[in-house]
Amino acid sequence: MKIEEADVLVIGSGGAGLRAAIEIHDSGVDVLVVGKCAKRDAHTILATGGINASLGNMDSQDSWQLHAADTIKDGGHINDTDAVLELCKNAPYAVRELEKWGTSFHKEKNGKISQRFFGAATYRRACFVGDVTGKAILNTLVDQAEKRKINFRSEVYIFSLLHANGKVNGALGLDIRNGKFVIFHAKKVILATGGHSRMFARSSSRFWENNGDGISLAYNLGARFMDMEMFQFHPTGMVYPSEAEGVLVTEAVRGEGGILTNTKGERFMDKYDKERMELSARDIVARAIYNEVQEGRGTTHGGVWLDISHKPKSYILKRLPKMYDQFKKFVGIDISKEKMEVAPTAHYSMGGIYTRQATGETSVPGLFAIGEVTSGVHGANRLGGNSLAEIVVFGRIIGKNVARQSKKDSFIPIDDNLIKKEVGKVIAITKQSGKNPIDLKKEIQKVMWKDCGVVREGKKMNQALSKIDRLRRYNLHTGNNLKMNEKLIAALDVRNMFPTCEMILRSALFRKESRGAHYRSDYPYTKREWKNNVVCLPENNKIKVSTRPVTPVPKYVSRHFKDKNPSHHLLE
Ligand code: FUM
Repeated sequence: MKIEEADVLVIGSGGAGLRAAIEIHDSGVDVLVVGKCAKRDAHTILATGGINASLGNMDSQDSWQLHAADTIKDGGHINDTDAVLELCKNAPYAVRELEKWGTSFHKEKNGKISQRFFGAATYRRACFVGDVTGKAILNTLVDQAEKRKINFRSEVYIFSLLHANGKVNGALGLDIRNGKFVIFHAKKVILATGGHSRMFARSSSRFWENNGDGISLAYNLGARFMDMEMFQFHPTGMVYPSEAEGVLVTEAVRGEGGILTNTKGERFMDKYDKERMELSARDIVARAIYNEVQEGRGTTHGGVWLDISHKPKSYILKRLPKMYDQFKKFVGIDISKEKMEVAPTAHYSMGGIYTRQATGETSVPGLFAIGEVTSGVHGANRLGGNSLAEIVVFGRIIGKNVARQSKKDSFIPIDDNLIKKEVGKVIAITKQSGKNPIDLKKEIQKVMWKDCGVVREGKKMNQALSKIDRLRRYNLHTGNNLKMNEKLIAALDVRNMFPTCEMILRSALFRKESRGAHYRSDYPYTKREWKNNVVCLPENNKIKVSTRPVTPVPKYVSRHFKDKNPSHHLLE
């Protein structure tokens, strides 16, 4: 088997992994990035509407302290306070750095970066490149990585982490294109593998990504996790045709003045949040749409209407070109003339691996994590535009820290027996006969969507745990080909999905209240005594669930908690 060696191995080639790799390289440390998809194709490209930074270009009253207050308020007051302060303080620098590196942010006539509204933001804070902001940022980061000749391996599926002497020292991958196993040997390993929105049937990510790879890799080494119950359902995803179901309809549509109505023609958001209307927090808008549909005021496809046709076509083409093309392509409508049909879609994992966000350290020695695979910064709900900010801010900070630490370390020899054992497990999958893993994956996703979705209830979640446990017992049939075998890839995905689903369900059952994106119809209120984080720890094949107190918020941030949110009125 081929061995590839680097001081630092970054698993994941989206924005978080690349920004970290750039920093590690610039600190004089050798780094290798491994991605599951092709270069320039990572989940980051699906982040559309914007990146938050309190530049104050449109609303000079904005400040990083206000950005922090909005983030914590929207996060249900269980965010990792230190991480929020880092994020909001550093976001303006990160955006300016991207601009310097070539991201062509939309500009105002005065030459300053333009900023648009996003839900639950006090001021216009999201910097954007039309509605393809994530793609533009990812391309900038790939360009910078290429300029530095950073080593890159694409289309390699990492299925196991290597460890020796109690420390992570590499990873094992399967090259999807040639079916060969690859050993990666490193002093430090960073997980930048993204979230787990594909636990759910309707999701804004693609079928092959966000299957909880990083969660499962860390779980197998007994890592600590936090807030796994906190999963964000974006209010607006496409509802049909089936191949487009769940595809994101960016919040920027509402940020640019889009209006939601039900089939009775009512602008229903005034019942749910009169102040902020369509620009309320994501959880509130998602539940409002869910409710309208449940109560019979939804479309035949189970959605509601989103309308931006009151804006001139030239404006839509400039600010929302992707949405224009998306609806033309899939539904055959012109959104400058007709309404869009939308409903909630699984979008973002606030919970994940517990890290000390300023250093990226997980509870497993030698293992670091950044971005959506982690927990803390977004608390119970994420502000739109904060995920792109997170990946570049923490990519830089954590990259620097890992580089510094790796300079002090030497390589720990690889444990050959561990390699034999882990490769053996993958080969054993290919020798089984049983269920098609692609079908099994869809079954898991249906259970999670139905029983642990926008609105949750204890009885249903307990049933989901039993269903997941039953699905776990199936043998799978993949065929014994290791090369370009989509069933084998699905089988590896399914292996990652089980611990991820179980932790989501156990944490959601444990938290007996509603807060942020976690809404329980049997515990509909937010309770003071639950202003805690929920922690999961794998121990002896069981998951131990407990709580952890949140850190206090400094006065200079908390004094903004009562500020009014003027966004809706400014748009009228
Ligand atoms: O709606 C959106 O454009 C999504 C942005 C985000 O999740 O940050």
